[in-house]
Amino acid sequence: MSSGCTLWFTGLSGSGKSTLSQLVATRLRALGARVEVLDGDITRTLLCQGLGFSKEDREENIRRIGFVCELLSRNGVIAIAAAISPYRASRDELRKRIPNFIEIHMNCPVEVLIKRDVKGLYKKALAGEIKQFTGISDPYESPTAPELTIDSSKESIESSVARIIQSLEKLEIIPPAVADLPGSPTTAKSVSTFS
Ligand code: ADX
Repeated sequence: MSSGCTLWFTGLSGSGKSTLSQLVATRLRALGARVEVLDGDITRTLLCQGLGFSKEDREENIRRIGFVCELLSRNGVIAIAAAISPYRASRDELRKRIPNFIEIHMNCPVEVLIKRDVKGLYKKALAGEIKQFTGISDPYESPTAPELTIDSSKESIESSVARIIQSLEKLEIIPPAVADLPGSPTTAKSVSTFS
């Protein structure tokens, strides 16, 4: 049997939240799990349309995404959220409400993100063209006790995905891979699926 949970990716823009959440979702679906991804870049065009980047609006953004995650988690779905979610209190509030809340801190040094700058936003933020940009001119409060910390400047995507899947196995959200079961030949392939 599979259980619902919320995988909450938090971290600065460009730290790998969206990429990793999509890959983890694909892997979990291949195992037969029911998965939904709520990505800040997408929810801001629908569920959270009209919200800006003030503290109040970011908190409201996280409340709305968290509310949907809570409903999904309670109904056996693995909800995956990818949003900067810069305020510790907002995330801790969700932890209290959501069963099986798993916080994943994407902890990549801001210097690396400035260099990568895939969306060109850091350049604009540093030039003062975007105000209140997280990590440059707006705060980011790191989690104090996340279930996982991933530094995408040091760890490969494959290794990160594997660690997340292993954590879900350990927490008994998904069944253990056949290869991990006691008595299984070590050569057994990972073929676990949800029932
Ligand atoms: S959150 O702070 O409310 O959690 P969210 O994850 O939904 O943010 O949206 C972040 C995305 O919005 C960034 O990846 C970036 O593309 C864009 N963005 C635009 N303005 C800002 C800003 N001032 N600070 C951070 N991200 C911004």
